[in-house]
Amino acid sequence: MSDLTSEINRRRTVAIISHPDAGKTTLTEKLLLYSGAIHQAGAVTGGKHQSTTSDWMEIEQQRGISVSSSAMRVDYNGLLLNILDTPGHQDFSEDTYRTLMAVDSAIMLLDAGRGVQEQTLKLFKVCRDRGIPIITLMNKMDRPSRDPLELLDEVEQTLGITAIPRTWPIGNGPDFRGIFDRTNQTLYAFERTVGNRYKAPVSIGDIRGAELRSAIGDLAHDKLLEDLEFVDHVIPTFERDAYLNEECTPVYWGSAITNFGIEHFLQAILDLAPTPQPFTMSTGTIEPSSDEFVGFVYKVQANMNKAHRDRISFLRIVSGTFERGMSAHHPRSGRETKLTYPFEIFGRERKIIDVAYPGDVIGLTNPGLFQVGDTITERSSATIPSFPRFAPEIYAKVWPATGSFSKSFRKGIEQLREEGVIQMFTEADGSPVPLVGVVGELQMELFAWRMENEYNEQVRLERLPYTRTRWIVGDGRPSTNAPVVHDDQGRAAVLFKSDWEIDYVVQRSEGLQLSEKPPAIA
Ligand code: G4P
Repeated sequence: MSDLTSEINRRRTVAIISHPDAGKTTLTEKLLLYSGAIHQAGAVTGGKHQSTTSDWMEIEQQRGISVSSSAMRVDYNGLLLNILDTPGHQDFSEDTYRTLMAVDSAIMLLDAGRGVQEQTLKLFKVCRDRGIPIITLMNKMDRPSRDPLELLDEVEQTLGITAIPRTWPIGNGPDFRGIFDRTNQTLYAFERTVGNRYKAPVSIGDIRGAELRSAIGDLAHDKLLEDLEFVDHVIPTFERDAYLNEECTPVYWGSAITNFGIEHFLQAILDLAPTPQPFTMSTGTIEPSSDEFVGFVYKVQANMNKAHRDRISFLRIVSGTFERGMSAHHPRSGRETKLTYPFEIFGRERKIIDVAYPGDVIGLTNPGLFQVGDTITERSSATIPSFPRFAPEIYAKVWPATGSFSKSFRKGIEQLREEGVIQMFTEADGSPVPLVGVVGELQMELFAWRMENEYNEQVRLERLPYTRTRWIVGDGRPSTNAPVVHDDQGRAAVLFKSDWEIDYVVQRSEGLQLSEKPPAIA
């Protein structure tokens, strides 16, 4: 097997989708512990659970959310799990959506006390649109949780995917005794000690055995048998292909905070999740084992660390071998560039890397060339046909508080646009005042905050009443006075105040065709 093939085969690239507070930060930290790279939870994820101040954005601390995100790596038994961090707050959904473009599968993390929540549902839909498989962890079993069957049923009913338990929890909250692995008929008993550790697994060939009964007690034992019998009857047998084809999601149970069930879950991810997959590009499908290096930028982030005041582009490698110092082609601008300082980001630390493979994420300091959605190749002109862009629901005209449209004002807006923090539009009358659209309110606040803190430009936001954006497909134009604007690629869009207004305008404008997504650029 070639080096490239064996490197591809040992990689899995995933993102965690969850509702805020389900335990994503905790799970990420715990997964990282297994790589042996860090020895203390909280050391990596930028300080959400630490008291030390994070350089990157006071706003993150003020609100207790994780705005910044990067890629982390778990090296476990010779396999590599790349976890692309997704910001948890719903207002940063655009960023999260883009990150989902860069993974091959997702981990759906649910709080077992709450089940499927709003944000999970949204993100699940994006995974569905992208056609990536999903593995599920029911977290917080050490707390009072909902009935396992009810939770599985909720996943099926609200998400429309068959949920197949691969393990089964025994009790919950104070009575949480462990998990039973249905595949190897082994009980993993949970012992409440200071460290809340695993007891050595009790293996039982015959689950009716006395050993199991004595390990978990009569009541829990009878309940387990009853549950398992029901599950065996009612729920289909798990097949990996069905998971890879997103017909089902395998479900595991655990408790990230106590570590319980997490190593087991990590093993399951590595066993089941797909290796780096082919990507569809403008030039056709690109296989990871192709000899040409191809990657794309799924995220650009400025000023992550005060020690390195620069911008970083996060590149997901799609195919071929990346080597430090290689010359690369940038199809959007037609320029050649040398990739001299590629690095890995570990928490807030950077480490220069010499070589990387499909499925990996590397950081590149951004010489102002790369934008979200750009490809970087060895020679071909491959681009990504449909990088997700979301229809803004909040609009404002942005005025410089100083009254002068200075260079730094323009630079700030332009850089934050490149990062995808905002979308920029121009009005038909060619007004010089930037018109900015965002998907969530916090995104607008973040924009204003960063203009002031990073570009020294206080801005005044003149809010506009539009809440819907629809791109125009074809030549039709509204025959009402709904404003027509142009996005940064020159595509025309109409702004509306409500769904009702969209219907009203469409009915009165002959030949007007609208789309929630911008039309592909030829
Ligand atoms: P998020 O990134 O998805 O938003 O969730 P995060 O990991 O920050 O976890 C949210 C809260 O849930 C945290 O508590 C965390 O400690 C707790 N938590 C995570 N996993 C588990 C679990 O398995 N069991 C229990 N009982 N709690 C869990 P917090 O009080 O908000 O923060 P902290 O003060 O504990 O850090």
